[in-house]
Amino acid sequence: MTDFYKHHLFFCTHQRDDGTPYCQAHNAQHLRDYAKQQVKQLKLKRVRVNNAGCLNRCTLGPMMVIYPEGIWYQYTNKSDIDEIINSHVIQGTIVDRLKR
Ligand code: FES
Repeated sequence: MTDFYKHHLFFCTHQRDDGTPYCQAHNAQHLRDYAKQQVKQLKLKRVRVNNAGCLNRCTLGPMMVIYPEGIWYQYTNKSDIDEIINSHVIQGTIVDRLKR
């Protein structure tokens, strides 16, 4: 079971209204949907993109994490998502500039 997916991407898309930071305030759902679309378009096998609730790194949001490596990324736009997919997911190279 541990190698069922080669890469499993979790995007926090949590939203709240208590005045504290949250990832959906940074368009997280839209960018998560874009990531899923790109993985599908590129026909990447054994790669899964999922929504997640709060991952408890809210002040750095929007945050996503890739397993099994357990690498966290702070992304802001589609270009960042493209770089994470092309570099980390496809080539296996961590994107240091976005790593948190
Ligand atoms: S709201 Fe995204 S990590 Fe907490």
